[in-house]
Amino acid sequence: MDSFIIKGPSKISGCAEISGSKNSALPIIFSTILTEQKCEIKNVPQLSDIKSSFDILSYIGKNCFYSLNTFISDEKHRLKTEAPYDMVRKMRASVLVSGPLLARFGHVKFAMPGGCAIGVRPIDIHLDGFKKMGANIEFEQGYVILKAKKLKPTSLSLKFPSVGATENLMMAAAITNGCTIINNAAKEPEIVDLARVLNLMGAKIEGAGTDRVKINGCKKLKGFNYKVMSDRIEAGTFLILCAACGGELEVKNINPEIISILIEKLKESGAELVIEKDCIKIKSPKKIKPVSISTGPYPEFPTDLQAQWMAYMCLAKGSSNIIESIFENRFMHAAELMRMGADIKIKHNKAIINGVDKLIGAPVMASDLRAGAALLIGAAAAFGESIVKRIYHIDRGYEKIEEKMRAIGVNIKRIKE
Ligand code: EPZ
Repeated sequence: MDSFIIKGPSKISGCAEISGSKNSALPIIFSTILTEQKCEIKNVPQLSDIKSSFDILSYIGKNCFYSLNTFISDEKHRLKTEAPYDMVRKMRASVLVSGPLLARFGHVKFAMPGGCAIGVRPIDIHLDGFKKMGANIEFEQGYVILKAKKLKPTSLSLKFPSVGATENLMMAAAITNGCTIINNAAKEPEIVDLARVLNLMGAKIEGAGTDRVKINGCKKLKGFNYKVMSDRIEAGTFLILCAACGGELEVKNINPEIISILIEKLKESGAELVIEKDCIKIKSPKKIKPVSISTGPYPEFPTDLQAQWMAYMCLAKGSSNIIESIFENRFMHAAELMRMGADIKIKHNKAIINGVDKLIGAPVMASDLRAGAALLIGAAAAFGESIVKRIYHIDRGYEKIEEKMRAIGVNIKRIKE
């Protein structure tokens, strides 16, 4: 398992080019199951999660090509309608094969994804939706088997605006004749990106990005060419890195509107930001003001930036709170930051951070993707050397992270173990 050695503190300067969005590319890649025609997807980030989606699509029988930042999928013969455990357990997003396979072939057998470091992560909202659309559900030795002669268009109401369930049900409805409505849908920008692709394929989707999505499906969907949106979480991670370490940074290829809540909180903490059409320039605060946040469904503060924000608040002049309302166990990074000298108390889903003058480099361990990002920020700001272990978590979601961090002033080296 590789590690990063980081020698801080870092003074940030220069420019970070943001890659394509992992959380948009994944559902779009799985949407290619809906058509036998050729699909070409550009601006796909080179990440291990994307490689996992390539492996799953290849396993079910798609002809896939993935090189540099282009993903092509084509189909020469009938697909398998099964996603095995050893593939699904590697990446939870694999559950997104179920909607397309069920809707196109009337059958899918896939392994229950299981939980991960940040929570149990059930899929009941996905399954409730498929059931309402007419699917029969069976459970067998850790697998879910869904069958439906023909899914029927219907009106669905999600008990929680689940991103994955909204995407899965949108894809199933896109290839189901008739009008399906998803109420209390997730409003994330990645949902809008997926809806654009499904419309290119021949569905008629309105309201993506709002809590009511209307999908007029079509039994035969076409291939498409599409460029994936930029990764708002990567952009936010770099902005927080600069604010925490000190310096100035230009973050390019990002639409500032989709991370407006972070921009607002960074300004509150004393950072200066200049907002341009597809770029954000940040100047770190002279003195970091403590700013409390509470995560929530879009457009509230993204849970995927909570860990990074905690690392930043460890250096604030004063006390701040973080409420994590999306996942039940997303504070694993706190204990590792405390190894660097942070002063954090956790009470249920609330973290209380008392800022310290400085962090001290230490050996730490990534527990999940965004916790790993938080440790990179802590280590870059800390005085002395840190070793960040289990960085395979980070490689899931950040393209060329050490090159990008080195280019803006962080002394970081990958150690292959
Ligand atoms: C997506 O996960 C993202 N992953 C996550 O990003 C992100 O944190 C999450 O949305 C929330 O924004 C991808 O897009 C690939 P949810 P997803 O369904 O779809 C509960 C990252 O770091 N829930 O919106 O799995 C669930 O347990 C990753 O890039 C149910 O109870 O998230 C959680 O508490 C981490 N039943 C909450 O809803 C369900 O059927 C939000 O989950 C589904 C979800």
